[in-house]
Formats: sequence, C-alpha cells, structure tokens
Amino acid sequence: MERRRVTFAATFLCLLLLLLPELNVVANAQDGAATEPVTPALFIFGDSLIDDGNNNYLVTAAKANYFPYGIDSGGPTGRFSNGLTVVDYGAQYLGLPIIPPYFSLTSFGKHILRGINYASAAAGILDETGRHYGQRTSLNGQISQFQETVALKLPLLFQNQDELTQYLAKSVFLIDIGGNDYLNNYLQPERYDSSRIYDGEGFADLLMNTLTSQITRLYNIGARKMVLVGTGPLGCIPSFLSKSSDNSCVQSVNNLIIPFNSRLTQITNTLNQSLPGSFFVYQNTYDFFYDVIKTPSKYGFTVSTKACCGNGRAGGELTCLPLQQPCADRNQYVFWDSFHPTQAVNAIIARRGYSQYATDCIPISIYQLAQL
Ligand SMILES: *[C@@H]1O[C@H](CO)[C@@H](O)[C@H](O)[C@H]1NC(C)=O
Repeated sequence: MERRRVTFAATFLCLLLLLLPELNVVANAQDGAATEPVTPALFIFGDSLIDDGNNNYLVTAAKANYFPYGIDSGGPTGRFSNGLTVVDYGAQYLGLPIIPPYFSLTSFGKHILRGINYASAAAGILDETGRHYGQRTSLNGQISQFQETVALKLPLLFQNQDELTQYLAKSVFLIDIGGNDYLNNYLQPERYDSSRIYDGEGFADLLMNTLTSQITRLYNIGARKMVLVGTGPLGCIPSFLSKSSDNSCVQSVNNLIIPFNSRLTQITNTLNQSLPGSFFVYQNTYDFFYDVIKTPSKYGFTVSTKACCGNGRAGGELTCLPLQQPCADRNQYVFWDSFHPTQAVNAIIARRGYSQYATDCIPISIYQLAQL
C-alpha cells in the first residue's frame, strides 16, 4: 500500500515536470546558459529588484540584509528576494559570474572586469525619489559611480585607452529603474509634490526626459549596448491588492505604468538612431508579470495575490520584517514580499529575457545583444 502510494507520487511528479516546463527552469536556471562569457562584462543600474547588496552599506530603512531574505541562497545578502534576482540568473545566461555590488569592492583588480552592479534599493530616475527611506544611490549617482570607475579604476587594467574603449563598447549596460518614481514618489502625495505638478502623461514625460539625458551620459562615458527594462504592473503587487476590496489590480496605478513603458519603448528606438554605434534593447516585463499574476498555474505557481513573507492583508503592505516566518512552499508563490517576486519568478523572467530562448525583448534578446 505504502509503496504504491510512493510510486504514484513519483509518477505524478514526473508528469508534473513534463507538463510544466517553466518549473524545470526553476530547478535548473542554467538551462541554455553559455559556458563561456558572450560579452566582456555586465554593468547594472537600478533599484531593489536587482540591488545585490549596495544598500547594506547605506544608512537607510530600505535594506534586506536580515533573515528571512536570502533564505534559499544560504542567508541574507541584501537582495530583496528569498534567493537570487533576475540579473543574477541573467549573468549566468551570458556566461558571466554573479556581478558584485559596487560598495562591496575594496580593491579594483581584475575581478571587476566582468562588471559591477550599482543598483540601489529605493532609488529612482529622479534624485528625490525614495528619500523618505534615507540614503540611496539615485540613477544619477549610480552613473557618477560608473564614471569614476571608468576614469580612475579601469584604466589600470588595460594596456591603452583603445582597449578600454573596445571593452566598454562590447559590454552590456542594463538599466532597470522607474518603479520607485511611482511607488516612492508620485503615488505618495503626502510626501512628494509630483502628482500635484504633473498628470500621468506629464510625469512619464518628465521621467523620460530625465532618463534620456542619463542614458546619454552613459553613452558619453563609453556604453554602447544598452538594455532598458520596462516596469511591471505595479497595480497588481500585493501592497496594492491588499488595498482593494476584491483583491483585483488597481487599474489607476497600472494606467500610470503603461504610458511609462510605451515611452521607454519609443526612446529605445530614437536613442538607437540618435546615438551612433549604439544598440538598444527593450525588455518587456509587464506582460509576463500580468499573466503570471492572473494565471499563476500556467507557470507552475499557485499563489499570486499574497506575499510569501508579510502574508495577509495588514502585513501585505510591508516588506518582510526581520525574523518573520515566511511561507514554506516558496516555489508556489509569485511574490516573496509585498513588492518583490520570488527567485522562482526571477528565474523565469531571466530566461525570457537573457537566454537563447528569450521571448520578451525587442528587437533582439539580451543574449544576442551580448554577442554583437
Ligand atoms: C540600432 O542601431 C544599430 C546600429 O548601431 C542597427 O544595427 C539596428 O538595426 C538599430 N535598431 C533599431 C531598432 O533601429
């Protein structure tokens, strides 16, 4: 009797794995990963979705350096995830190691040649975004850190300026930022003025004009291959779902993100043309995210309206608190805390953007961009 039950369970599990290819990816994120680097380096700019430890070094409430963050990757690292982030998986698809956080670097030897992660939780395109959390490195600040890296550190590792220029031109620059300009600025009228000054379209224009000059700065420092990552449907994250009566997405919030993403798609094209020798890729995360929240079973998940940590209505509005007990079945959850996806979801986003099987980037995948 007992053995039959075990056999049945094993058969069922095999069937499940066959039926849910996305689930296999969670177990083996390296499926389709390059064994050799396909680009010299990956330089990363962004917010808490991809911060891999920079905010550990800042005086801020936006930190994830305590249990249970990192519970599935050997302990807390500063990542806002139960384990890895999209760029951690993404780097592996490009044949690169995990990219170290800028603030963790105490020396600048050859180990920095595979790239640096400058992302900072609570940061935005606008300098004031997220200021109520305390210190954070805004996108302008992150670009200044990169500028300093290129001016003072990298030249020591190359024979001449030409080699450094080539290295930068071949490397991939990823910019994943903008969500906080809504969550921790526009949507907080008690703390920030922006929603009184701009309507949704006007604010998206402001963000895009600011971002355009920031990207131009990166280009002038030497970046050529750039990935602009769209923002997800923020109206569908647990912190907003918990505010609606029927657990449905807050459409007014999504209606702010849609024009932001459509402008981002536009500048992907216009900058590609106006900056000679550049190549821009747009990574669409909105559609997959919306789909996995609406139809989690399609991707092997069962829970998409509640966070794994900070579970429940009241708790759902906060990040995961120190020593809070998270859910046990983390691979079943779309959201780790009220704002950030689980590493299982991050693995899928990476595969859909960075791998040789990518579907979510235009005009080419990040893998193909890296290879150019
Ligand atoms: C972007 O520019 C590159 C040349 O740098 C070109 O090969 C590519 O087709 C352009 N992409 C778009 C979408 O215009």
